[in-house]
Amino acid sequence: MWQGSAEEAHNDIDWPQLRDFYAKRLWGFLETGKLVPFQKTSDAFFAENSQTFDFIYIDGDHRASSVVKDAINAWAALKPGGVLAFDDYSWSAGSTPDQDPKPAIDAFLLAKTNGYNLLAVNNQVWLRKH
Ligand SMILES: C[S@@+](CC[C@H](N)C(=O)[O-])C[C@H]1O[C@@H](n2cnc3c(N)ncnc32)[C@H](O)[C@@H]1O
Repeated sequence: MWQGSAEEAHNDIDWPQLRDFYAKRLWGFLETGKLVPFQKTSDAFFAENSQTFDFIYIDGDHRASSVVKDAINAWAALKPGGVLAFDDYSWSAGSTPDQDPKPAIDAFLLAKTNGYNLLAVNNQVWLRKH
């Protein structure tokens, strides 16, 4: 997204500079067209998306309501056999659980119990869709 978010830690970041840094480091992949950046929220991305993916990594807005929404949208866009990964499973904003990813990831895992194989659980959660 390359802009601030609900997280305080993002307030002091120079976002345009970070975007330039990203472009320089990933130029080789951007040039081939295999990497396509989207400067928009995940909601906006999924609302317009019609592609399906082999791998989706969720590490955006960490609030539970956003993580569960990203998970549901990502699941719909993930191919059977594809891998979905969540970052920051054990990260906490230090306030209330609705500000953290974990309750949302747990709820999603429960709701989709028979729909995946769990590949890894640590500070990240990785699963393969059936
Ligand atoms: C914890 S950082 C992780 C960035 C990157 N995955 C990394 O490891 O360097 C979270 C990023 O998600 C972005 N973000 C926050 N809310 C978002 C949203 N609703 N949609 C898309 N990105 C969002 C933030 O601007 C920030 O760049």
